Amino acid sequence: MADQNHSAFDLEDRLRRLNEIGVALSVEHNLTVLLERILLEARRFTRADAGTLFLLKGDHLTFEITQNDTLKSFAGGTRGKIDLPPIPLNKESVSGYVAVTGQILNIEDVYTDPVYHFEGPKQADRRTGYRTRSILGVPMKDHEDQIIGVLQLINALHPQTGEVLPFSAQDQSLIQSLASQAAVAINNVRLIEETERLFDSFVEVMATAIDERSPYTGGHIRRVAEMAMAVAHGVNSCQEGPLGARQFSEDEFNELRIAAWMHDIGKITTPEWVVDKPTKLHTLFDRIELVRTRFALIRKSIELERLERQAALQEAGQPLPAGFAEEYAHRLQTLGEDLAFLERANTPGEFMQDADLVRLNQIARQTYVEEGQERPYLSENELKNLCIRKGSLTQEERQKINDHASMSIKMLAQIPFTRKLAQVPPIAGAHHEKLDGSGYPLGLKAEQISLQARILALVDIFESLSADDRPYRAKPMPREVVLRILREEVEANHIDRDLFELFIREQLYLKLDEIKARMAAGPRNAQDV
Ligand SMILES: [Fe+2]
Ligand SMILES: [Fe+2]
Repeated sequence: MADQNHSAFDLEDRLRRLNEIGVALSVEHNLTVLLERILLEARRFTRADAGTLFLLKGDHLTFEITQNDTLKSFAGGTRGKIDLPPIPLNKESVSGYVAVTGQILNIEDVYTDPVYHFEGPKQADRRTGYRTRSILGVPMKDHEDQIIGVLQLINALHPQTGEVLPFSAQDQSLIQSLASQAAVAINNVRLIEETERLFDSFVEVMATAIDERSPYTGGHIRRVAEMAMAVAHGVNSCQEGPLGARQFSEDEFNELRIAAWMHDIGKITTPEWVVDKPTKLHTLFDRIELVRTRFALIRKSIELERLERQAALQEAGQPLPAGFAEEYAHRLQTLGEDLAFLERANTPGEFMQDADLVRLNQIARQTYVEEGQERPYLSENELKNLCIRKGSLTQEERQKINDHASMSIKMLAQIPFTRKLAQVPPIAGAHHEKLDGSGYPLGLKAEQISLQARILALVDIFESLSADDRPYRAKPMPREVVLRILREEVEANHIDRDLFELFIREQLYLKLDEIKARMAAGPRNAQDV
Protein backbone atom coordinates (compact mmCIF):
# COMPACT_ATOMS: atom_id res chain seq x y z
CA MET A 1 0.00 0.00 0.00
CA ALA A 2 1.46 3.29 -1.01
CA ASP A 3 1.99 5.98 1.57
CA GLN A 4 3.18 8.80 -0.63
CA ASN A 5 0.55 11.32 0.29
CA HIS A 6 0.57 11.07 4.02
CA SER A 7 3.95 12.74 4.24
CA ALA A 8 2.16 15.92 3.28
CA PHE A 9 0.30 15.79 6.55
CA ASP A 10 1.74 15.81 9.93
CA LEU A 11 0.12 13.03 12.00
CA GLU A 12 -0.22 15.18 15.08
CA ASP A 13 -1.93 17.83 13.06
CA ARG A 14 -4.28 15.30 11.55
CA LEU A 15 -5.19 13.85 14.92
CA ARG A 16 -5.97 17.30 16.20
CA ARG A 17 -8.10 17.93 13.13
CA LEU A 18 -9.83 14.58 13.57
CA ASN A 19 -10.65 15.57 17.10
CA GLU A 20 -12.10 18.89 15.95
CA ILE A 21 -14.23 17.12 13.39
CA GLY A 22 -15.50 14.73 16.05
CA VAL A 23 -16.56 17.66 18.22
CA ALA A 24 -18.16 19.47 15.29
CA LEU A 25 -20.14 16.36 14.35
CA SER A 26 -21.37 15.81 17.87
CA VAL A 27 -23.04 19.24 18.02
CA GLU A 28 -24.86 19.02 14.69
CA HIS A 29 -28.50 18.13 15.36
CA ASN A 30 -29.85 18.09 11.85
CA LEU A 31 -29.39 14.65 10.32
CA THR A 32 -29.26 15.84 6.72
CA VAL A 33 -26.69 18.52 7.45
CA LEU A 34 -24.76 16.05 9.59
CA LEU A 35 -24.48 13.48 6.80
CA GLU A 36 -23.26 16.11 4.35
CA ARG A 37 -20.75 17.30 6.87
CA ILE A 38 -19.44 13.81 7.54
CA LEU A 39 -18.75 13.12 3.89
CA LEU A 40 -17.25 16.54 3.30
CA GLU A 41 -14.93 16.28 6.30
CA ALA A 42 -13.92 12.72 5.39
CA ARG A 43 -13.05 13.87 1.88
CA ARG A 44 -11.16 16.92 3.07
CA PHE A 45 -9.32 14.80 5.54
CA THR A 46 -8.11 12.36 2.88
CA ARG A 47 -8.08 14.82 0.00
CA ALA A 48 -10.58 12.58 -1.76
CA ASP A 49 -11.96 14.02 -4.99
CA ALA A 50 -15.29 12.27 -4.61
CA GLY A 51 -17.30 10.15 -2.23
CA THR A 52 -20.63 8.68 -1.26
CA LEU A 53 -22.27 8.18 2.08
CA PHE A 54 -24.65 5.23 2.34
CA LEU A 55 -26.97 4.38 5.21
CA LEU A 56 -28.11 0.91 6.04
CA LYS A 57 -31.89 0.67 5.83
CA GLY A 58 -33.37 -2.78 6.26
CA ASP A 59 -31.63 -5.16 3.85
CA HIS A 60 -30.02 -2.59 1.62
CA LEU A 61 -27.89 0.51 1.51
CA THR A 62 -29.34 3.80 0.34
CA PHE A 63 -27.44 6.64 -1.33
CA GLU A 64 -27.67 9.56 1.07
CA ILE A 65 -25.00 11.97 -0.13
CA THR A 66 -22.75 12.00 -3.19
CA GLN A 67 -20.06 14.58 -3.82
CA ASN A 68 -17.65 14.89 -6.74
CA ASP A 69 -15.40 17.94 -7.03
CA THR A 70 -14.15 17.22 -10.56
CA LEU A 71 -17.64 16.67 -11.94
CA LYS A 72 -18.94 19.49 -9.73
CA SER A 73 -21.72 17.12 -8.85
CA PHE A 74 -23.26 17.24 -5.40
CA ALA A 75 -26.46 15.44 -4.57
CA GLY A 76 -28.55 14.25 -1.65
CA GLY A 77 -28.90 15.76 1.81
CA THR A 78 -30.08 19.36 1.73
CA ARG A 79 -30.31 19.11 -2.08
CA GLY A 80 -33.04 16.49 -1.87
CA LYS A 81 -33.22 12.73 -2.23
CA ILE A 82 -30.90 10.89 -4.63
CA ASP A 83 -32.77 9.01 -7.29
CA LEU A 84 -30.57 5.92 -7.43
CA PRO A 85 -31.66 2.35 -6.66
CA PRO A 86 -30.61 0.98 -3.27
CA ILE A 87 -27.56 -1.27 -3.09
CA PRO A 88 -28.25 -4.86 -2.03
CA LEU A 89 -26.24 -6.30 0.81
CA ASN A 90 -23.86 -8.57 -1.05
CA LYS A 91 -20.22 -8.55 -2.05
CA GLU A 92 -20.82 -7.36 -5.61
CA SER A 93 -20.40 -3.69 -4.85
CA VAL A 94 -17.80 -1.83 -2.83
CA SER A 95 -20.31 -0.51 -0.33
CA GLY A 96 -22.21 -3.82 -0.16
CA TYR A 97 -18.96 -5.65 0.46
CA VAL A 98 -17.97 -3.30 3.27
CA ALA A 99 -21.41 -3.52 4.87
CA VAL A 100 -21.57 -7.32 4.67
CA THR A 101 -18.03 -8.03 5.87
CA GLY A 102 -17.55 -5.05 8.15
CA GLN A 103 -14.07 -4.74 6.64
CA ILE A 104 -12.35 -1.73 5.21
CA LEU A 105 -11.67 -1.89 1.48
CA ASN A 106 -8.66 0.06 0.28
CA ILE A 107 -8.22 -0.35 -3.46
CA GLU A 108 -5.38 1.30 -5.33
CA ASP A 109 -7.04 1.11 -8.75
CA VAL A 110 -10.48 -0.36 -9.12
CA TYR A 111 -9.83 -1.17 -12.82
CA THR A 112 -6.67 -3.22 -12.29
CA ASP A 113 -7.09 -4.68 -8.81
CA PRO A 114 -6.07 -8.34 -8.93
CA VAL A 115 -8.47 -9.40 -6.12
CA TYR A 116 -11.62 -7.30 -6.37
CA HIS A 117 -13.58 -6.89 -9.55
CA PHE A 118 -16.24 -4.34 -8.90
CA GLU A 119 -18.28 -3.29 -11.90
CA GLY A 120 -20.27 -0.49 -10.28
CA PRO A 121 -17.58 2.23 -10.42
CA LYS A 122 -16.76 1.38 -14.05
CA GLN A 123 -20.41 1.57 -15.04
CA ALA A 124 -20.74 4.90 -13.28
CA ASP A 125 -17.61 6.15 -15.06
CA ARG A 126 -19.07 5.20 -18.43
CA ARG A 127 -22.09 7.32 -17.62
CA THR A 128 -20.22 10.33 -16.34
CA GLY A 129 -16.88 10.24 -18.11
CA TYR A 130 -15.13 10.20 -14.75
CA ARG A 131 -12.19 7.91 -14.02
CA THR A 132 -12.39 6.19 -10.68
CA ARG A 133 -9.07 4.91 -9.49
CA SER A 134 -8.45 4.63 -5.75
CA ILE A 135 -11.31 3.73 -3.44
CA LEU A 136 -11.53 3.64 0.33
CA GLY A 137 -14.68 1.95 1.67
CA VAL A 138 -15.13 2.22 5.44
CA PRO A 139 -17.98 0.80 7.54
CA MET A 140 -19.64 3.23 9.93
CA LYS A 141 -19.99 1.28 13.16
CA ASP A 142 -21.79 2.63 16.18
CA HIS A 143 -20.89 2.15 19.85
CA GLU A 144 -22.42 -1.32 19.77
CA ASP A 145 -20.27 -2.28 16.78
CA GLN A 146 -23.36 -2.32 14.57
CA ILE A 147 -22.87 -1.15 11.01
CA ILE A 148 -25.22 1.73 10.27
CA GLY A 149 -23.76 2.79 6.94
CA VAL A 150 -20.73 2.99 4.66
CA LEU A 151 -18.41 5.82 3.72
CA GLN A 152 -16.95 5.42 0.28
CA LEU A 153 -14.16 7.79 -0.72
CA ILE A 154 -12.81 8.01 -4.24
CA ASN A 155 -9.53 9.21 -5.73
CA ALA A 156 -7.20 10.58 -3.10
CA LEU A 157 -5.45 13.57 -4.65
CA HIS A 158 -1.88 14.72 -4.22
CA PRO A 159 -2.04 18.01 -2.31
CA GLN A 160 0.23 19.80 -4.78
CA THR A 161 -0.02 18.07 -8.12
CA GLY A 162 -3.62 16.86 -7.93
CA GLU A 163 -2.47 13.47 -9.18
CA VAL A 164 -4.65 10.56 -8.05
CA LEU A 165 -2.97 8.53 -5.33
CA PRO A 166 -3.93 5.46 -3.35
CA PHE A 167 -5.38 6.07 0.11
CA SER A 168 -2.58 5.71 2.65
CA ALA A 169 -2.56 3.35 5.61
CA GLN A 170 -2.75 6.41 7.80
CA ASP A 171 -5.81 7.66 5.90
CA GLN A 172 -7.36 4.27 6.42
CA SER A 173 -6.95 4.17 10.18
CA LEU A 174 -7.88 7.82 10.71
CA ILE A 175 -10.99 7.54 8.52
CA GLN A 176 -11.95 4.43 10.42
CA SER A 177 -11.93 6.50 13.59
CA LEU A 178 -13.84 9.33 11.91
CA ALA A 179 -16.42 6.84 10.61
CA SER A 180 -17.04 5.56 14.13
CA GLN A 181 -17.46 9.08 15.48
CA ALA A 182 -19.78 9.79 12.57
CA ALA A 183 -21.84 6.69 13.33
CA VAL A 184 -22.25 7.71 16.95
CA ALA A 185 -23.21 11.24 15.91
CA ILE A 186 -25.78 9.86 13.43
CA ASN A 187 -27.24 7.58 16.09
CA ASN A 188 -27.44 10.46 18.55
CA VAL A 189 -29.30 12.65 16.11
CA ARG A 190 -31.61 9.79 15.22
CA LEU A 191 -32.23 9.15 18.89
CA ILE A 192 -33.03 12.80 19.53
CA GLU A 193 -35.32 12.88 16.49
CA GLU A 194 -37.03 9.68 17.57
CA THR A 195 -37.48 11.02 21.09
CA GLU A 196 -38.95 14.22 19.73
CA ARG A 197 -41.28 12.28 17.45
CA LEU A 198 -42.29 10.06 20.32
CA PHE A 199 -42.95 13.06 22.52
CA ASP A 200 -44.89 14.80 19.75
CA SER A 201 -47.11 11.80 19.15
CA PHE A 202 -47.64 11.36 22.89
CA VAL A 203 -48.67 15.00 23.15
CA GLU A 204 -51.02 14.57 20.21
CA VAL A 205 -52.59 11.45 21.69
CA MET A 206 -53.19 13.29 24.97
CA ALA A 207 -54.68 16.27 23.17
CA THR A 208 -56.93 14.04 21.09
CA ALA A 209 -58.11 12.21 24.20
CA ILE A 210 -59.06 15.54 25.78
CA ASP A 211 -60.72 16.82 22.61
CA GLU A 212 -62.67 13.60 22.25
CA ARG A 213 -64.26 14.05 25.66
CA SER A 214 -66.48 16.71 24.23
CA PRO A 215 -68.37 16.34 20.99
CA TYR A 216 -68.70 20.12 20.95
CA THR A 217 -65.06 21.06 21.26
CA GLY A 218 -63.59 18.15 19.28
CA GLY A 219 -60.44 19.24 17.47
CA HIS A 220 -60.20 22.50 19.47
CA ILE A 221 -56.62 21.82 20.56
CA ARG A 222 -55.42 20.91 17.09
CA ARG A 223 -56.99 24.02 15.63
CA VAL A 224 -55.54 26.20 18.39
CA ALA A 225 -52.09 24.70 17.75
CA GLU A 226 -52.29 25.38 14.04
CA MET A 227 -53.70 28.88 14.54
CA ALA A 228 -50.95 29.69 17.06
CA MET A 229 -48.34 28.71 14.48
CA ALA A 230 -50.05 30.84 11.84
CA VAL A 231 -50.01 33.89 14.14
CA ALA A 232 -46.37 33.26 15.13
CA HIS A 233 -45.41 33.11 11.44
CA GLY A 234 -47.38 36.32 10.98
CA VAL A 235 -45.28 37.95 13.70
CA ASN A 236 -42.08 36.84 11.98
CA SER A 237 -43.15 38.23 8.61
CA CYS A 238 -44.33 41.47 10.14
CA GLN A 239 -41.89 44.25 9.22
CA GLU A 240 -43.51 47.24 10.87
CA GLY A 241 -44.99 48.39 14.15
CA PRO A 242 -44.19 47.06 17.61
CA LEU A 243 -44.05 43.46 16.35
CA GLY A 244 -41.75 44.32 13.45
CA ALA A 245 -38.62 43.69 15.45
CA ARG A 246 -39.83 40.45 16.99
CA GLN A 247 -38.52 37.25 15.42
CA PHE A 248 -39.30 33.86 16.88
CA SER A 249 -36.44 31.38 16.62
CA GLU A 250 -37.03 27.82 15.51
CA ASP A 251 -36.84 26.71 19.14
CA GLU A 252 -39.41 29.32 20.19
CA PHE A 253 -41.74 28.11 17.45
CA ASN A 254 -41.38 24.60 18.71
CA GLU A 255 -41.98 25.72 22.28
CA LEU A 256 -45.19 27.50 21.26
CA ARG A 257 -46.33 24.51 19.21
CA ILE A 258 -45.88 22.08 22.11
CA ALA A 259 -47.44 24.57 24.55
CA ALA A 260 -50.46 24.93 22.26
CA TRP A 261 -50.86 21.18 22.02
CA MET A 262 -50.68 20.92 25.79
CA HIS A 263 -52.55 24.05 26.86
CA ASP A 264 -55.75 22.30 27.90
CA ILE A 265 -54.09 19.14 29.22
CA GLY A 266 -55.58 19.91 32.66
CA LYS A 267 -59.04 19.29 31.20
CA ILE A 268 -58.32 15.61 31.58
CA THR A 269 -59.35 16.06 35.22
CA THR A 270 -62.53 18.06 34.50
CA PRO A 271 -65.62 15.93 35.23
CA GLU A 272 -67.20 14.79 32.00
CA TRP A 273 -70.65 16.16 32.79
CA VAL A 274 -69.30 19.61 33.51
CA VAL A 275 -67.40 19.82 30.21
CA ASP A 276 -70.54 20.14 28.10
CA LYS A 277 -73.25 20.58 30.72
CA PRO A 278 -76.18 21.02 28.35
CA THR A 279 -78.88 22.00 30.86
CA LYS A 280 -78.83 23.48 34.33
CA LEU A 281 -80.16 20.32 35.93
CA HIS A 282 -77.79 18.06 34.02
CA THR A 283 -75.51 15.83 36.03
CA LEU A 284 -75.05 12.33 34.61
CA PHE A 285 -78.50 12.78 33.10
CA ASP A 286 -80.93 15.67 32.85
CA ARG A 287 -82.70 15.85 36.21
CA ILE A 288 -85.63 17.68 34.60
CA GLU A 289 -86.88 14.10 34.05
CA LEU A 290 -87.08 13.66 37.83
CA VAL A 291 -88.92 16.95 38.11
CA ARG A 292 -91.38 15.86 35.40
CA THR A 293 -92.06 12.56 37.16
CA ARG A 294 -92.49 14.39 40.45
CA PHE A 295 -94.95 16.85 38.92
CA ALA A 296 -96.93 13.95 37.43
CA LEU A 297 -97.08 12.51 40.94
CA ILE A 298 -98.18 15.85 42.37
CA ARG A 299 -100.89 16.06 39.67
CA LYS A 300 -102.10 12.62 40.68
CA SER A 301 -102.11 13.55 44.35
CA ILE A 302 -104.13 16.72 43.64
CA GLU A 303 -106.64 14.68 41.61
CA LEU A 304 -106.79 12.09 44.37
CA GLU A 305 -107.37 14.78 46.97
CA ARG A 306 -110.26 16.13 44.89
CA LEU A 307 -111.83 12.69 44.54
CA GLU A 308 -111.45 11.91 48.24
CA ARG A 309 -112.99 15.24 49.26
CA GLN A 310 -115.81 14.75 46.77
CA ALA A 311 -116.51 11.21 48.04
CA ALA A 312 -116.46 12.37 51.69
CA LEU A 313 -118.94 15.16 50.97
CA GLN A 314 -121.22 12.82 49.04
CA GLU A 315 -121.11 10.27 51.83
CA ALA A 316 -122.10 12.99 54.31
CA GLY A 317 -124.96 13.98 51.98
CA GLN A 318 -123.48 17.44 51.50
CA PRO A 319 -123.29 19.33 48.24
CA LEU A 320 -119.94 20.34 46.70
CA PRO A 321 -118.96 23.82 47.86
CA ALA A 322 -119.13 26.62 45.34
CA GLY A 323 -116.06 26.78 43.10
CA PHE A 324 -114.96 23.26 44.05
CA ALA A 325 -114.30 22.06 40.49
CA GLU A 326 -112.73 25.41 39.47
CA GLU A 327 -110.35 25.32 42.44
CA TYR A 328 -108.90 21.98 41.36
CA ALA A 329 -108.85 22.86 37.70
CA HIS A 330 -106.92 26.00 38.63
CA ARG A 331 -104.43 24.09 40.77
CA LEU A 332 -103.78 21.61 37.96
CA GLN A 333 -103.39 24.35 35.42
CA THR A 334 -100.94 26.23 37.62
CA LEU A 335 -99.01 23.01 38.13
CA GLY A 336 -98.75 22.55 34.36
CA GLU A 337 -97.62 26.13 33.89
CA ASP A 338 -95.04 25.80 36.62
CA LEU A 339 -93.58 22.69 35.03
CA ALA A 340 -93.41 24.42 31.66
CA PHE A 341 -91.65 27.34 33.35
CA LEU A 342 -89.16 24.96 35.01
CA GLU A 343 -88.48 23.29 31.67
CA ARG A 344 -87.71 26.68 30.14
CA ALA A 345 -85.57 27.69 33.10
CA ASN A 346 -83.61 24.48 32.72
CA THR A 347 -82.35 25.46 29.28
CA PRO A 348 -79.49 27.88 29.65
CA GLY A 349 -80.20 29.95 26.55
CA GLU A 350 -81.84 32.94 28.18
CA PHE A 351 -80.83 35.27 30.93
CA MET A 352 -82.89 34.75 34.11
CA GLN A 353 -84.57 37.91 35.34
CA ASP A 354 -85.14 38.73 39.04
CA ALA A 355 -88.85 37.93 38.64
CA ASP A 356 -87.92 34.49 37.28
CA LEU A 357 -85.86 33.79 40.37
CA VAL A 358 -88.73 34.87 42.63
CA ARG A 359 -91.09 32.52 40.79
CA LEU A 360 -88.55 29.66 41.03
CA ASN A 361 -88.36 30.16 44.78
CA GLN A 362 -92.14 30.21 45.11
CA ILE A 363 -92.47 26.96 43.18
CA ALA A 364 -89.67 25.32 45.14
CA ARG A 365 -91.22 26.20 48.50
CA GLN A 366 -94.50 24.41 47.74
CA THR A 367 -94.88 20.96 49.14
CA TYR A 368 -96.62 17.69 48.37
CA VAL A 369 -96.99 14.48 50.36
CA GLU A 370 -95.23 11.33 49.26
CA GLU A 371 -95.38 8.14 51.36
CA GLY A 372 -96.66 10.17 54.29
CA GLN A 373 -93.79 12.62 54.08
CA GLU A 374 -94.08 16.24 53.18
CA ARG A 375 -91.59 17.13 50.47
CA PRO A 376 -90.74 20.36 48.60
CA TYR A 377 -91.50 20.68 44.90
CA LEU A 378 -87.78 21.21 44.20
CA SER A 379 -84.74 20.08 46.16
CA GLU A 380 -82.29 22.71 47.27
CA ASN A 381 -79.77 21.60 44.69
CA GLU A 382 -82.36 21.69 41.91
CA LEU A 383 -83.37 25.19 42.92
CA LYS A 384 -79.75 26.32 43.03
CA ASN A 385 -79.05 25.01 39.54
CA LEU A 386 -82.25 26.40 38.06
CA CYS A 387 -81.40 29.81 39.53
CA ILE A 388 -78.21 30.04 37.41
CA ARG A 389 -78.74 33.35 35.70
CA LYS A 390 -76.57 32.76 32.63
CA GLY A 391 -75.33 29.56 31.03
CA SER A 392 -75.68 26.18 32.70
CA LEU A 393 -72.89 26.13 35.24
CA THR A 394 -73.00 26.85 38.94
CA GLN A 395 -70.14 28.80 40.50
CA GLU A 396 -68.53 25.57 41.69
CA GLU A 397 -68.86 23.96 38.29
CA ARG A 398 -67.44 27.06 36.59
CA GLN A 399 -64.54 26.84 39.03
CA LYS A 400 -64.06 23.17 38.12
CA ILE A 401 -63.74 24.16 34.47
CA ASN A 402 -61.39 27.01 35.28
CA ASP A 403 -59.29 24.67 37.38
CA HIS A 404 -58.03 23.08 34.16
CA ALA A 405 -55.59 25.95 33.71
CA SER A 406 -53.91 25.43 37.07
CA MET A 407 -54.12 21.68 36.53
CA SER A 408 -52.32 22.15 33.20
CA ILE A 409 -49.55 24.01 35.02
CA LYS A 410 -49.38 21.32 37.69
CA MET A 411 -49.20 18.51 35.17
CA LEU A 412 -46.68 20.25 32.94
CA ALA A 413 -44.50 21.00 35.95
CA GLN A 414 -44.00 17.28 36.32
CA ILE A 415 -42.63 16.80 32.81
CA PRO A 416 -38.84 17.21 32.66
CA PHE A 417 -38.81 19.45 29.59
CA THR A 418 -35.48 19.91 27.86
CA ARG A 419 -33.81 23.30 28.03
CA LYS A 420 -35.20 24.13 24.57
CA LEU A 421 -38.75 23.49 25.77
CA ALA A 422 -38.38 25.06 29.19
CA GLN A 423 -40.97 27.77 28.45
CA VAL A 424 -43.72 25.29 27.56
CA PRO A 425 -45.35 25.24 31.04
CA PRO A 426 -45.49 29.04 31.51
CA ILE A 427 -46.79 29.57 27.95
CA ALA A 428 -49.43 26.83 28.18
CA GLY A 429 -50.40 27.72 31.74
CA ALA A 430 -51.05 31.38 30.93
CA HIS A 431 -53.62 30.90 28.17
CA HIS A 432 -56.47 32.19 30.37
CA GLU A 433 -54.48 35.07 31.85
CA LYS A 434 -55.48 38.60 30.91
CA LEU A 435 -53.19 41.58 30.46
CA ASP A 436 -55.00 43.58 33.16
CA GLY A 437 -54.44 40.82 35.69
CA SER A 438 -58.05 39.66 35.81
CA GLY A 439 -57.39 36.26 34.27
CA TYR A 440 -56.77 32.91 35.89
CA PRO A 441 -55.27 30.88 37.45
CA LEU A 442 -52.48 33.17 38.64
CA GLY A 443 -53.86 36.61 37.79
CA LEU A 444 -50.65 37.46 35.94
CA LYS A 445 -50.10 41.02 34.72
CA ALA A 446 -49.11 42.08 31.20
CA GLU A 447 -45.38 42.14 31.90
CA GLN A 448 -45.53 38.58 33.19
CA ILE A 449 -47.25 37.22 30.09
CA SER A 450 -44.95 36.31 27.20
CA LEU A 451 -45.78 37.05 23.59
CA GLN A 452 -46.19 33.32 22.94
CA ALA A 453 -48.72 33.05 25.79
CA ARG A 454 -50.55 36.09 24.38
CA ILE A 455 -50.75 34.39 20.99
CA LEU A 456 -52.17 31.31 22.64
CA ALA A 457 -54.74 33.35 24.59
CA LEU A 458 -55.88 35.16 21.44
CA VAL A 459 -56.29 32.06 19.28
CA ASP A 460 -57.87 30.09 22.15
CA ILE A 461 -60.67 32.66 22.50
CA PHE A 462 -60.99 33.04 18.74
CA GLU A 463 -61.27 29.30 18.18
CA SER A 464 -63.75 28.80 21.02
CA LEU A 465 -66.01 31.58 19.77
CA SER A 466 -65.80 30.21 16.23
CA ALA A 467 -66.85 26.69 17.22
CA ASP A 468 -69.39 25.18 14.85
CA ASP A 469 -71.75 24.18 17.59
CA ARG A 470 -71.95 24.29 21.33
CA PRO A 471 -74.54 22.76 23.64
CA TYR A 472 -76.78 25.84 23.39
CA ARG A 473 -75.60 27.58 20.33
CA ALA A 474 -77.82 26.53 17.49
CA LYS A 475 -75.54 27.89 14.80
CA PRO A 476 -71.97 29.18 14.65
CA MET A 477 -71.37 32.77 15.66
CA PRO A 478 -70.86 34.97 12.59
CA ARG A 479 -67.23 35.93 11.98
CA GLU A 480 -67.87 39.65 12.43
CA VAL A 481 -69.41 39.00 15.84
CA VAL A 482 -66.42 36.87 16.86
CA LEU A 483 -64.02 39.62 15.78
CA ARG A 484 -66.11 42.24 17.51
CA ILE A 485 -65.93 40.31 20.77
CA LEU A 486 -62.17 39.97 20.32
CA ARG A 487 -61.89 43.72 19.84
CA GLU A 488 -63.87 44.24 23.03
CA GLU A 489 -61.36 41.96 24.74
CA VAL A 490 -58.57 44.20 23.43
CA GLU A 491 -60.35 47.35 24.65
CA ALA A 492 -60.83 45.74 28.06
CA ASN A 493 -57.05 45.16 28.14
CA HIS A 494 -57.50 41.41 28.18
CA ILE A 495 -55.70 40.41 25.01
CA ASP A 496 -52.75 41.88 23.15
CA ARG A 497 -53.62 44.80 20.88
CA ASP A 498 -50.65 44.45 18.52
CA LEU A 499 -51.34 40.78 17.95
CA PHE A 500 -55.00 41.50 17.36
CA GLU A 501 -54.20 44.25 14.83
CA LEU A 502 -51.87 41.83 13.03
CA PHE A 503 -54.59 39.17 13.17
CA ILE A 504 -57.00 41.55 11.43
CA ARG A 505 -54.54 43.22 9.04
CA GLU A 506 -53.14 39.95 7.72
CA GLN A 507 -56.55 38.25 7.85
CA LEU A 508 -55.00 35.44 9.88
CA TYR A 509 -58.49 34.47 11.03
CA LEU A 510 -59.10 33.03 7.56
CA LYS A 511 -56.56 30.32 8.41
CA LEU A 512 -59.17 28.75 10.67
CA ASP A 513 -61.41 28.01 7.70
CA GLU A 514 -58.48 26.38 5.90
CA ILE A 515 -57.65 24.31 8.96
CA LYS A 516 -61.27 23.22 9.41
CA ALA A 517 -61.54 22.20 5.76
CA ARG A 518 -58.30 20.24 5.99
CA MET A 519 -59.36 18.55 9.22
CA ALA A 520 -62.69 17.61 7.71
CA ALA A 521 -60.80 16.02 4.80
CA GLY A 522 -58.80 13.69 7.02
CA PRO A 523 -56.57 13.26 10.06
CA ARG A 524 -53.19 14.89 10.11
CA ASN A 525 -49.97 14.55 11.95
CA ALA A 526 -48.98 16.73 14.88
CA GLN A 527 -45.69 17.54 13.20
CA ASP A 528 -47.36 19.11 10.20
CA VAL A 529 -48.48 22.17 12.11
FE1 LIG B 1 -58.25 26.43 28.40
FE1 LIG C 1 -58.31 25.90 24.96
